[in-house]
Amino acid sequence: MLDLPRLHPETIEQVRQRADIVDVVSEHVVLRKQGKDFVGLCPFHDDKSPSFTVSPGKQFYYCFSCGAGGNAIKFLMELGKQPFSEVVLDLARRYQVSVQTLKPEERQEFQRQVSLREQLYEILAVTAKFFEHALYQPQGQAALTYLETQRQLNRATMQQFQLGYAPAGWETLYGYLVEQKHYPVELVEQTGLLVPRKNNSGFYDRFRDRLMIPIHDLQGRVVGFGGRTLTDEQPKYLNSPETELFDKGKLLFGLDKARAAIAKQDQAVVVEGYFDVIALHNAGVTNAVASMGTALSSGQVRQLLRYTESNRIVLNFDADKAGNQAAERAVGEVETLAYRGDIQLRILNIPAGKDPDEFLQQHPVAAYFELLDQAPLWLDWQIERAIAGKDLRQADQFQTGVQAVVKLLGNLPNATLRTHYIHRCAERLSQGDSRLMLQLEEDLRQQVRGERWHGRSQKWQTRSDRNLLAEAEEQLLRLYIHKPSYRQMIEAALEERDLEFSLSHHRHLWRQILNLKEQGIDFSDASIDLLTLLEEADADAASDLSRMYALFQLDETREVDTRRAMLVIRTAVASMEKIMCEKRRRHLLDLLHSLDWSAAPDLGQLYQKKIYAEDQRIRQLDQERQVLFEDLVRVPLVEI
Ligand code: UTP
Ligand code: MN
Repeated sequence: MLDLPRLHPETIEQVRQRADIVDVVSEHVVLRKQGKDFVGLCPFHDDKSPSFTVSPGKQFYYCFSCGAGGNAIKFLMELGKQPFSEVVLDLARRYQVSVQTLKPEERQEFQRQVSLREQLYEILAVTAKFFEHALYQPQGQAALTYLETQRQLNRATMQQFQLGYAPAGWETLYGYLVEQKHYPVELVEQTGLLVPRKNNSGFYDRFRDRLMIPIHDLQGRVVGFGGRTLTDEQPKYLNSPETELFDKGKLLFGLDKARAAIAKQDQAVVVEGYFDVIALHNAGVTNAVASMGTALSSGQVRQLLRYTESNRIVLNFDADKAGNQAAERAVGEVETLAYRGDIQLRILNIPAGKDPDEFLQQHPVAAYFELLDQAPLWLDWQIERAIAGKDLRQADQFQTGVQAVVKLLGNLPNATLRTHYIHRCAERLSQGDSRLMLQLEEDLRQQVRGERWHGRSQKWQTRSDRNLLAEAEEQLLRLYIHKPSYRQMIEAALEERDLEFSLSHHRHLWRQILNLKEQGIDFSDASIDLLTLLEEADADAASDLSRMYALFQLDETREVDTRRAMLVIRTAVASMEKIMCEKRRRHLLDLLHSLDWSAAPDLGQLYQKKIYAEDQRIRQLDQERQVLFEDLVRVPLVEI
């Protein structure tokens, strides 16, 4: 029977958040500050030199000699051999957390859930043993041979990873768990090991004739399985479905076995596949984990960062196109961390598109360590990718390269780093031409500055874009209504620049105006029949209505506009076009980011060219608006 916590989960969570690890530990261990952390003699073994580290940033202790580690609660539990709830209660008192207990009904529900989970864990553990046993029976011979010859794994590794074999029948595991061991079938079903037959007629084994790889959580409990076919049956890997216990997106395969090594080596290696992790551990690279084929989530990265002090992560995804994209997608979530230098992210691409497992089949592990040492930093890798494969003597390819580099460097918040990289990129892009290099370095500096400004200003621009747009459209409409002599010019300007009104009430009004015009109804001054216009407007757009009314009024400032109509019209259409260009640019960027480059390299180039064109146009328009604006300020208020 389980010792049931009677504490409300909320209380436990608050204690977790308030109890400070340094505070708690230093009552029992003499701690000395060392960098960001504290060190001392480990209380859990006979420590001669300080190997016990406490990290206030991570709220975590770890002993490099004996491997003890955990949070404040775990520390007190281990030290005082106290049960969880007792420690939490003590801490709650000390940190003034009000203690809530579960009500009897809640307690029962909680108990039911805990015991459900406990039973699921048990079934999964029993199953892992069953599969492992089968691997060493005659029926598992082929699978065993596969592991020994094709994968060249040691027995010790197979046992460490608890590899197994799921026998071929349809009801082998079913028979074992349900008939022999008497686990309730509904419970077994919840582990994902059985699949219900159609028409409610029983269950069959999900995994049949497959090599079985148990997936463990951080505490080393089996929570799911990956099953590899030994033939070319599809899918290659069949995985447990998401269950109460198994959440593929949150788990990292192998982390339970890798975390001590990650802490010790202060670096984590992330690969894609089960067998990559297994092969790496087999070869002695024990700080490797896998994301099980999905993009690395920020939650997974955060888990890793708990163990590496210097936040060093190497991504070793397959060097094929999909792998590169996976690396990019994986990084997407932690990109800002990487740019800020909060994580040291490196990318390792094994030559010839091999995965770590394949590489280790043919090379000694020393060669892999060498690759690890040479793995470029995330930004260097990105820059190389932006430039590599381009013929820099071709003007357009050179330009695309420059653009891409500018975008990347524009993200760097640190000025020293920026200077460093600008220099490096100028060097790389000028290919030994020292005159070009100097020129280019200056160019890059300017452009990166522009990019940073652009990137920063874009944020508030998207907010105020609407204001700028609304203002420009209103000015045009107002002039159209009040200054008949400029109507022709306004129509021409809109047509020439291929512009339309974007705000819906403006569009509506514009349509009505054109209608009236078509019917030959003249509204030479503002005396048009407003009601005809407004009656047709959307009934629930009351505020739009009042805005339309307002267009027919001229207050003092508005009246000023009519006296320099030409300048106002030109400024307004320039603003409208600029906002249109920016909208298109954002859209193109989205397209570019979601593009599968391997499938459509031409399309990618096309998008880049178009983005470049929009950039150029936006710059022109900004200049145009600047000049017009200065004129507007300068020009005396007489009609020109
Ligand atoms: P890969 O297809 O890259 O294969 O899948 P691999 O790991 O190199 O496989 P081997 O060496 O041929 O055995 C990478 C990971 O993606 C997940 C698995 O976690 C796999 O390890 N995957 C792949 C699946 O879940 N299902 C599949 O059908 C394929
Ligand atoms: Mn492989």
